Amino acid sequence: SARPYVIDEMISAKAIAARIEALAREITEAFGDTDKLVVVGLLRGSFVFIADLVRELDLPVEVDFIEVSSYGDATESSREVRILKDLRGEIAGRDVLVVEDIVDTGHTLKHVVGYLGAKGPKRLRTIALLDKPTRREVDVKADWTGFEIPDRFVVGYGIDYAQRNRNLPHIGAVRFTG
Ligand code: PRP
Ligand code: MG
Ligand code: MN
Repeated sequence: SARPYVIDEMISAKAIAARIEALAREITEAFGDTDKLVVVGLLRGSFVFIADLVRELDLPVEVDFIEVSSYGDATESSREVRILKDLRGEIAGRDVLVVEDIVDTGHTLKHVVGYLGAKGPKRLRTIALLDKPTRREVDVKADWTGFEIPDRFVVGYGIDYAQRNRNLPHIGAVRFTG
């Protein structure tokens, strides 16, 4: 995008780290009896969150990824979720935690839960760092949420605007200046 913008800090790296510590304790407790937890990140947005989250889990963990796409380079959801890259491992009969960066319209998470649920996991749970409940178009909610945020276009900590700003260490809100 050629439109100029600045990024206002919305959630600091420190606040994110503290929240992840608390979430990881809850997840460790919820899956305390597991033989192995398969943590599935949704590429690409969740790559930073999953890296920080798994390092706080006191459980036997396997990490896998799927890639779906709805937004591409657009700011609006296409509402048509496609599987671009499937899991490498099996999840039938396994405990699975789906890790998402943000739930917006909900189409992505809803589709992924349906898709992975059909593979027959033992338990299938979801976590999203961010949730924009006012934007929801389909009925879905992550089992764990880091922060509920207002309807601002956010970037950083893995989240992009037209593939930029994923490497920002905090969550910022995009503000157009032109
Ligand atoms: C973004 C974001 C979530 C999804 C949320 O992914 O990372 O996965 O959109 O939107 P929804 O709730 O309206 O479906 P995107 O499709 O942009 O791919 P990316 O993760 O590779 O950036
Ligand atoms: Mg995504
Ligand atoms: Mn994106």
